Amino acid sequence: MPIDICVIGFGNIGREFVKQILNYNEFLREKHGLNLKIVGLADSSGTIVKKNGFSKNELLKLLTIPRGSLAKVNISGIKKFANAVEAFDSLEPEKTIVIEVTPSNYVNGEPAKTHLLEAFKKGFHAVTANKGPLALYFNEIIGEARRDNVEFRFKATVMAGTPLIDYLSYGYFGRNIEKVYGIINATTNYILNKMYEKEVSFEEALRKAQVEGYAEPDPSLDIDGWDPAAKISIISGILGNHIPVHNVVRVSLRETALDEVLKAKREGYMIKYIASYDSLTGEARVEPKRVKADSYIAKVRGSRNLVVVESDGGLKTVVEGPGGGPKPTSLTILSDVALIAAKVMGK
Ligand SMILES: NC(=O)c1ccc[n+]([C@@H]2O[C@H](COP(=O)([O-])OP(=O)(O)OC[C@H]3O[C@@H](n4cnc5c(N)ncnc54)[C@H](OP(=O)(O)O)[C@@H]3O)[C@@H](O)[C@H]2O)c1
Repeated sequence: MPIDICVIGFGNIGREFVKQILNYNEFLREKHGLNLKIVGLADSSGTIVKKNGFSKNELLKLLTIPRGSLAKVNISGIKKFANAVEAFDSLEPEKTIVIEVTPSNYVNGEPAKTHLLEAFKKGFHAVTANKGPLALYFNEIIGEARRDNVEFRFKATVMAGTPLIDYLSYGYFGRNIEKVYGIINATTNYILNKMYEKEVSFEEALRKAQVEGYAEPDPSLDIDGWDPAAKISIISGILGNHIPVHNVVRVSLRETALDEVLKAKREGYMIKYIASYDSLTGEARVEPKRVKADSYIAKVRGSRNLVVVESDGGLKTVVEGPGGGPKPTSLTILSDVALIAAKVMGK
């Protein structure tokens, strides 16, 4: 049985995911006996559905269209809908996986929250990289997926190119994770590394980060800590005590002066933007903190992330890997999709 895929959000991640489906389809068929086909694509202009699946050539062509123009596409056999939810009636329950990759919204989680909850109601499985709905409403979203008896995975929401979420969800089953802390935002890490190494101000380091593509033109979600706060909030949810993103103690990086960075440097420390969750106190925080200059946390560079996990019995493990970027994120989404497809097909 082929598994149908509907991708909601056709930007950086949605498009890269379609490329990776084309790259991996044969491997997934040969290695795991999975047959995945893309039947729906949505952007802010509208949704297109092709019941029997888009061909490889059609997908390659769609990857070249400008953003926000799916509604204008003409391909024979497609149906057009004003939005993703309207298209849901034309998709098949039980064999459809919805991929939700619209922008993360920390005010009300929309439009992703509605996309996910409506998909669950229709009996579709779902995978997301979108942090908004889970950072705000973790228990509600997971509860609805369970009630509607569908599979829901979200490994790419935290440390997007690294399977940290599976590690935290299953690796310690039956045990207690006491603390999780580390670097889960590459933009702020880049800025602090530049301030330390080049001895430049926060503003100068931010400008360099924007030139090199590490920071958005509007960098506030990163430098004010919303992105790492959302991720640590999701981690707290996985560990069974969800702290909504607005309750995470959050100190903006804007408050870190070069003087502080240089004083720490003279004393053998680096300042790092650390996200932490402590299951014993039930507190989640995001803040600039001193770490020893020769510690593994101090050595994290580029787009990599690093998280330390402290568990019962005084054990400590470290997970390090890609923190994001279209290709790592899409490959992580693909892994979640393959897991669901294998389960649905009884593999
Ligand atoms: N980029 C990364 O490395 C990364 C890593 C981990 C997680 N994520 C998460 O992945 C998600 C996608 O990121 P991205 O970089 O791909 O963002 P993006 O490039 O801004 O793409 C977002 C897409 O969502 C579409 N969209 C917006 N509102 C919509 C609606 N109501 N219905 C259907 N589509 C809608 C946009 O449409 P238009 O094209 O018409 O504007 C666009 O195609 C975000 O939640 C982000 O936080 C990203």
